[in-house]
Amino acid sequence: MKSLLKVNKKINSFNQEIKVDGDKSLSIRWVLLASQTIGRCRAYNLLMSEDVFAAIDTIKELGIKVKIYKDYCDIFGNGINGFKYKKNLTINAKNSGTLGRLILGLLIKSPQKIKLIGDKSLSKRDFSRVTIPLKKFGVKFFYKKKGKLPLSILGSKSFKNIKYLENRGSAQCKSSVMLAALNSSGTTFIKAKKSRNHSELIFKYLKIPIKIKKTKKYDFIDIKQPKKIKAFNYKIPGDISSSAFFIVLTVLTADSKLLIKNVNINSSRIGIILILKKMGAKIFLKNKKNYRGEKISDILIKSSKNLKAINCPPELNSSAIDEFLIIFLIAARAKGVSHFKNLSELNQKESPRLDFGSKILNMMGIKTELTKDSLKIHGQPNLKITKLITVKNYLKDHRIFMMSTIAALTCGGKWKIYDKDSINTSFPSFIKILEKINNKPL
Ligand code: S3P
Repeated sequence: MKSLLKVNKKINSFNQEIKVDGDKSLSIRWVLLASQTIGRCRAYNLLMSEDVFAAIDTIKELGIKVKIYKDYCDIFGNGINGFKYKKNLTINAKNSGTLGRLILGLLIKSPQKIKLIGDKSLSKRDFSRVTIPLKKFGVKFFYKKKGKLPLSILGSKSFKNIKYLENRGSAQCKSSVMLAALNSSGTTFIKAKKSRNHSELIFKYLKIPIKIKKTKKYDFIDIKQPKKIKAFNYKIPGDISSSAFFIVLTVLTADSKLLIKNVNINSSRIGIILILKKMGAKIFLKNKKNYRGEKISDILIKSSKNLKAINCPPELNSSAIDEFLIIFLIAARAKGVSHFKNLSELNQKESPRLDFGSKILNMMGIKTELTKDSLKIHGQPNLKITKLITVKNYLKDHRIFMMSTIAALTCGGKWKIYDKDSINTSFPSFIKILEKINNKPL
């Protein structure tokens, strides 16, 4: 794939129906949990992206058999703590924070040191957020640079039951400790600020002893070690984070309509829909279903005029955390000044997205006011870009690439957008689907 995308023209009006790739969070969780079951697990519509392949390669290195077919993937689990591996093993989470953080939870009993590495972007990210709670179980970590990859983990023999306060609203931290709880006799107590709850829903479905008490701000989660986990099959629904780019494309393109089929609309993930609706976007959920505790529906989007600025409620931050870049684009085209607050976590992603998002808007001629954890965006409903914009050196962040592409197709101007290959980490079909909507190659 050539890594530069040139866009010189806005997209024409469209009326289309599409399906997006499988949900990334659910795909990685299925791979990791399947490895802990006894028997054959099968997933349909598993996201076939680099992040998920990295998860598959990781469990293969840890002795788990995996077979990939055209329409499904089989994993043959070896039970809880059933990993078998050679001495001096190195596993590679590549670009995936979810994999890097969650896998450590499954390694808290590893009798030998295992080294965890990642790519340039992952090596810049914070791992102390999971090593600190995992150390409470008695696990040891070794690093060159504290809290950063590469690091090595050495499991514990004597286990302590832990109480853990997750105060960032990070599902990765919460899930890492939840997976560790599978290996810890006794009860693990977690008090977690609200974040996506896919792990909890799968644990419940798998009859892992879990108790959840919800309050407005926190979830109290108690987990007891299960004796074993039965093999399970799963049909992965479409990813709302991938759908988000096409939702915004449709909202910003005149006389257009799009139906996205079978998307996961778990309430801990639909911040983008709530935020965009508050801003005046026409988005409708159709054909709602339940699947193993998850909610799924089709999403109908219509082009929307008269978008208005938002003072975004921070309670929605965690349910829209991967969508803020593309939400910023809507704010850039809304009437008034939008304000997004308490967003320091956005600078902890594949790239510092609060800073980079602001920078791209500035290149488009949009005025922003950026602090360490907030952004004000001065919207221009009639924005017309005429100059050349080059998007390069953004740590090959997939969502930066996709946000820039949607900006180019909806705001005009001439764009050179580098690092097209980055879409392979989360959404390999992105360009193909855009070309279907566009009715011709980009
Ligand atoms: C994810 C949680 C989020 C999100 C990431 C996927 C997950 O990270 O940004 O893309 O699958 O648990 P945090 O939990 O650190 O916010």
